[in-house]
Amino acid sequence: MKILAFESSCDETAVAVVEDGRRILSNAIASQVDIHALYGGVVPEIASRKHVEVIAALTEQALREAGCTRRDIDAVAATYAPGLIGAVLVGLSFAKSVAYALQVPLIPVHHVRGHIAANYLAFPELEPPFLALAISGGNTLIVDVRDYTDLRILGATRDDAAGECFDKAARVLGLPYPGGGPMDKLAQGSRGGVYKLPHAQVDGAELDMSFSGLKTAVVNLGHHAQQVGEELDRAALARDFAQAVSDELVPRAMKAAALAGRTVIAAAGGVAANSIIRADLERACEKQGCQLYLPPLKLCGDNAAMIGAQGYYEYLAGHTAGMDLNAYATMDISD
Ligand code: KG4
Repeated sequence: MKILAFESSCDETAVAVVEDGRRILSNAIASQVDIHALYGGVVPEIASRKHVEVIAALTEQALREAGCTRRDIDAVAATYAPGLIGAVLVGLSFAKSVAYALQVPLIPVHHVRGHIAANYLAFPELEPPFLALAISGGNTLIVDVRDYTDLRILGATRDDAAGECFDKAARVLGLPYPGGGPMDKLAQGSRGGVYKLPHAQVDGAELDMSFSGLKTAVVNLGHHAQQVGEELDRAALARDFAQAVSDELVPRAMKAAALAGRTVIAAAGGVAANSIIRADLERACEKQGCQLYLPPLKLCGDNAAMIGAQGYYEYLAGHTAGMDLNAYATMDISD
């Protein structure tokens, strides 16, 4: 079954063709990162307009690269939540029109379910149940993937997402948006251990996380250094910061796996590209006797192939929609 998939929830317009949920036939992405970098973050209105500009041509590109014509497409999948509402609406509306024109089923896909499904593309043997650590610019979740379309949140951030925290800390260090990747590179130049950063605990919810205190601590370090005319050890701060984020995420993911009785763990989302988090996960999984799946870097960030992968399993579960399908800025992954 060939699914034409669309993703437009933030600043990447993406169109892909995926076969049977597991094989990428094409994965076209038009990134807007350079435009938003001028503003130090994503400007929602600009994101929506840029999606409109490129989505038709990108669809032709995805079909061409997959060696497909429109007639070969069996269904259309699209991110319908969560995300920047204007941006999601562009991809979803376009997907609806394609599904209508081709007279094929329309499959709504939750963006974070898609991130988790990137693992199905990279690892043919991976099947639920497993525990997923979904960490991106907008979401930070520990999810029990009981089945392909039966997901339960075990832990979540109470405020900022891990990626948002990376991006704001990177700004303090004078790095361009999005800052996670450049910070990761900068951190490689130091062993850290210079800056003491806070570690958050949510009372009565040991698997929940909080990143706003960590973000504020880095902003305050930056302000203080400026006021007293001190140079920050930028590489050490990048390293200590990444370690602090990893210390929030990895032990909780391992604890959640133990509590849910899972011995397979999969990482997902843009922040899963982080080298310190990846290394910590590897060490922790080895210690706890868990099998770890770390998707390749190109499947960690936003893309449409992951939407096609999850879309296939949503379709098998009978989750298709009519032309009245709406987009949503927020939505629980278990809905
Ligand atoms: O998954 P993604 O592409 O978009 C969302 O769905 O949010 O994630 C983007 C986030 C950004 O915050 C970016 O700074 C972060 O992923 N990121 C990283 C790394 N590469 C990207 N964070 C830490 N380390 C990295 N190597």
